[in-house]
Amino acid sequence: MSTITTRKLLGIAGSLRSDSYNRAILRTLAEKSWEGVEIEIFDISSIPLYNSDQDGGHPPDPVQKLKSSIAACAGLLVVSPEYNYGIPGVLKNALDWASRPAYKSPLVGKPVGIITSSMATTGGARAQTAIRDCFYGCLAEVVPYVEVAIPTVHDKVQCGRLTDEKSLALASGLVKALALASRGAAHNDGMRVFLAGASGVIGQRLIPRLVQAGHVVGGLTRSPSKTELVSHLGAEPILCDVFDREALIQAVREFEPDVVLDELTDLPDDAARISELAGLNARIRTEGTQNLIEAARRSGSPKILAQSVAWQLPDGPDARAVAELERSVLAESGVVLRYGQFYGPGTYNEQQPPKEPRVQIDRAAERTVEALGEPTGVVVIVD
Ligand code: FNR
Repeated sequence: MSTITTRKLLGIAGSLRSDSYNRAILRTLAEKSWEGVEIEIFDISSIPLYNSDQDGGHPPDPVQKLKSSIAACAGLLVVSPEYNYGIPGVLKNALDWASRPAYKSPLVGKPVGIITSSMATTGGARAQTAIRDCFYGCLAEVVPYVEVAIPTVHDKVQCGRLTDEKSLALASGLVKALALASRGAAHNDGMRVFLAGASGVIGQRLIPRLVQAGHVVGGLTRSPSKTELVSHLGAEPILCDVFDREALIQAVREFEPDVVLDELTDLPDDAARISELAGLNARIRTEGTQNLIEAARRSGSPKILAQSVAWQLPDGPDARAVAELERSVLAESGVVLRYGQFYGPGTYNEQQPPKEPRVQIDRAAERTVEALGEPTGVVVIVD
């Protein structure tokens, strides 16, 4: 199977106007083909006006989406007009939402490129300074590059595309500088988390929480049909079969993770068939985990955390697989996550909690995010 590890830049236009010149510039850049980089445009038109009363753990959905998208992107590209010598209100408003919580927001350490344009001969140069100052306040990293301020833009955009070659070359140079800066970005207190089992029950609940915590998530899935879900949740989808060892090694290497989080299981939808199909789960726990360990070793040995169970399994292939997984993860100075039986939405126990040890699925996801900072050993995650 092939792997997808293109770095994503997030493009935001500072104008909501349907025929916006700035949006046209951004669109032109997004449509260009870049090596190893793609530009996704985020539309800020549905972001409500900032209100601290609505900020906190659960900001409005469009804001949550903006923050997740910023956290998941490798760099941010802003293309904006100048309004009254400053930042258009809609852009400032979106950045204000994205900047919270102060000094811990997804903007911290995020590489940023700024382009302005104007019908005036100044090209929005004064807004450049204001936008730069705003990012400075958010602890984002504006990439060093010559100022890209495009004057008399109405003569340079035709049919919704930037057609002036000189301006396009300058703007493209900035995109390349941004892509380069995003390769080495440390994401400050956030980490690059390679999540195996991204589309699974716990994986789906983990991604938004990891992103919210400021981490950049590469979500491994073997199903092409699940990449959209993984991306929607805020992770960079990585399409690869964990049993395809060479492809996996390459995917991990390209993602350059700080952490490999192994949440691999291969369980049937119907709980009644678990023992009949136990061999599949045992194989992914042993062979899948071994492949992940090998891939991690070959990409600078990032920390490994892996899913295990908090209850005693009856003797058999499953119990042996779990024991082997735990042994090999601890041998790598990793962390074993012994979960209780999951219950709650999407689990086998949606209606009724199972017997102990058990853990509600959202709680399990929250505790897992906290466990990223644990030293090597066994962490028991139960209610
Ligand atoms: C402007 N415009 C403008 N232009 C400029 O060069 N300096 C400025 O200070 C301002 N101020 C300003 C304020 C307001 C409220 C508006 C609506 C416009 C003109 C602006 O650059 C021009 O309309 C651009 O075409 C707007 O960008 P979009 O919408 O084409 O991307």
